[in-house]
Amino acid sequence: MANKIERIGILVGGGPAPGINSVISAAVIEVVNSGYEAVGIKNGYEFLVKGDTSQIVNLTIEDVSVIHTQGGSILHTSRTNPTKRAEDLETCIATLKKLDISHLITIGGDDTSFGASEISRATKGAIRVAHVPKTIDNDLPLPGDMPTFGYETARHVGAGIVMNIKEDSVTTNRWYFIVAMGRHAGHLALGIGKAAASTITLIPEEFSQNTVSLSEVCDVLEGAILKRRVAGRPDGVAIIAEGIASKLKMSDLRNIAGVEIPRDEYGNIRLADLPLARVLRAEVERRFKDRGEAMGIVDLTLGYELRSAAPIPFDIDYTRTLGHGAVRFLLSNGDVDERTKEGAMICIVDSQLQAVPFDDLRDSETGKTAIRMVDTENLYYDVARRYMIRLEQSDLDNPEMLEQLANSALMQPDAFKRRFTVKS
Ligand code: F6P
Repeated sequence: MANKIERIGILVGGGPAPGINSVISAAVIEVVNSGYEAVGIKNGYEFLVKGDTSQIVNLTIEDVSVIHTQGGSILHTSRTNPTKRAEDLETCIATLKKLDISHLITIGGDDTSFGASEISRATKGAIRVAHVPKTIDNDLPLPGDMPTFGYETARHVGAGIVMNIKEDSVTTNRWYFIVAMGRHAGHLALGIGKAAASTITLIPEEFSQNTVSLSEVCDVLEGAILKRRVAGRPDGVAIIAEGIASKLKMSDLRNIAGVEIPRDEYGNIRLADLPLARVLRAEVERRFKDRGEAMGIVDLTLGYELRSAAPIPFDIDYTRTLGHGAVRFLLSNGDVDERTKEGAMICIVDSQLQAVPFDDLRDSETGKTAIRMVDTENLYYDVARRYMIRLEQSDLDNPEMLEQLANSALMQPDAFKRRFTVKS
């Protein structure tokens, strides 16, 4: 039986993504116009799991009518995991009930969506949840071809920054190593690298093994620098996906992190705390130094400056539809589909709204939200890859090229070939 609609709550979890305020705005307007009360829950699940009701704000149309163009989140966000302990989930649900929240809109990534699905499951739909998927990482397994909201804005802002860095690199004749956020997948790094025409972009998906060594990653970067020099270019920009760190061997990771590997509430390694760009730069510089050459590389990390940017029109448009769709789904009150009675993730497929059952998003092995990785077999990746400068086996097999490469590295051709041949 459908549950009586009391108040509709909205909360945000996980890292910021451009378009959050636009979802909130569209949702509140639709809730109020439909004759119901909208309440914002500030700071995600953080206070709910403590039984604290102080973070609730009533939201009116006036409060939200112009926020759709703003970055950040008027409700803030947190990474508090309501499923960390059974008692946290119980308290969170009890607090929502105490607040008369019978319907909940959650805006977040894989972790927030997992929390949302557990709330709807544990209450058997007494708290019905519409989850709006967001993340600049673009790594949620949405049906169809749509990115997660926030990704396109992050890419747009990131590509602009990288284009400026490219100019700096050409002007100063040096290389830049830029690590781009994306905890698991290389979507953002690749999207930025392809749009800004970086010299090379490295993503975790290109390494088929489960783990990769720091040394293998540096081999690719060093090879690109040497090949570029053969073409008469001392400059270059490498984009490295942050998710590469998730694939690094534990021993390498420990060396980078120091003693302890920092983790967040969900147990994810806090990649932003690992100085990956700096470590790669230091190692590649060392390799040149060992051959008697001073090589100055600049390192930087891109992510935080993208996540709270004002959304571009694509993301505003997209998130208005999602926010509206989340409310329409909740108000349908489970009358339609047995599998989405308790809750669902709201998506757009072929320009139509689709409520996707939470179970469809779970990885059957881990029970967690599945992760969408870059498909390195498709045309999108193939074209990106063809325009990168990378040392290929064909370069090593070409005697003329091999000689030039070896000269560039101050090595003998045979030694160069042995050193850079990829062991399979
Ligand atoms: O939300 C995902 C993300 O943007 C990842 O790309 C990144 O690893 C993480 O957030 C960092 O978030 P924070 O430092 O806020 O925990």
